[in-house]
Amino acid sequence: MQSCSVHHCVLFLLTLTLNTDPGSAAVFPIYATLHRPVTLPCEAQCSGRATWSLDSNRDDVFAQCDQTSCTSVKEGYEMSYDQFKKGDLSLTITKPDYSMRKTYTCECDYSDVITVNLRIFTVFSAVQVKTGEDLKLDVSVPEPVEVIYRSRDSADDVQICNVTQRSLQCKSEYTPRTSLSYPELTLRHMERSESGTYIIRNLNFKEDIRVYAVSVSAEYSVYSGVKSCLQRIDTWCRTNKEEQNNCMQQASGRVENITQVQNMVTFLGELEQCCKDKKNELKKYMGI
Ligand SMILES: *[C@@H]1O[C@H](CO)[C@@H](O)[C@H](O)[C@H]1NC(C)=O
Ligand SMILES: *[C@@H]1O[C@H](CO)[C@@H](O)[C@H](O)[C@H]1NC(C)=O
Repeated sequence: MQSCSVHHCVLFLLTLTLNTDPGSAAVFPIYATLHRPVTLPCEAQCSGRATWSLDSNRDDVFAQCDQTSCTSVKEGYEMSYDQFKKGDLSLTITKPDYSMRKTYTCECDYSDVITVNLRIFTVFSAVQVKTGEDLKLDVSVPEPVEVIYRSRDSADDVQICNVTQRSLQCKSEYTPRTSLSYPELTLRHMERSESGTYIIRNLNFKEDIRVYAVSVSAEYSVYSGVKSCLQRIDTWCRTNKEEQNNCMQQASGRVENITQVQNMVTFLGELEQCCKDKKNELKKYMGI
């Protein structure tokens, strides 16, 4: 659609009209690339006034022309007077966004010429994150969407979250790792096994809004895995300077304080578990 000339588009649309139920006014979909100018075609020799308005409310005018000039009634909607004089009433939407996905009607002297439904192409992007980093997904559409995950080795789609009216609802295993700071949804601490496709899909019409090809790289994983363990030692040491000192004294047999020893034993137990978990994660990752 995008590459055809206005003339050919109209021919194509007229052909479609002939195949459409004559009882219902046909609505033609036109797809725009997000934020890239798009032209809604309309051809008629218009001796009076031409308007582009909301199909459902003809008083809601976006742009119009009469015999003397063309006016952009709403910002971002333009008609050309030079084109108008040649019978080309097309409307240019200079920076289409999701709020502009509406059904527009081109009228000449109060009779409909064409009705067009503006849609926006799915936005595809490739994202690289390192293990342990956060994945950020743009959910900036006004309607409810679902977030779908499709892993690399399975064709099955898993619905992980819903975003409705700026509120987030996720599957229980994702809940602690996700947050919504509209329009950005964050999925924290990505794992290597979570590479794959993340889809933001309209919940009602099942139309894909954004598709992210996410690759979680491994470079960072060995370091970040062990780092969390080292950070725990560091934090403990900073907040337990006194116990450390006492611990050294105990080692030399001079102080007996059972509470301190118990704290130390608890900490070493946690550390042991943490290190064991990290060791298993690394072994699993390396396949050893
Ligand atoms: C999202 O909404 C759909 C339909 O309302 C529901 O079936 C599904 O369980 C919801 N998913 C989550 C993760 O809450
Ligand atoms: C033992 O150490 C703890 C923590 O440092 C301290 O609160 C407590 O008073 C000490 N007990 C004795 C008997 O010294």
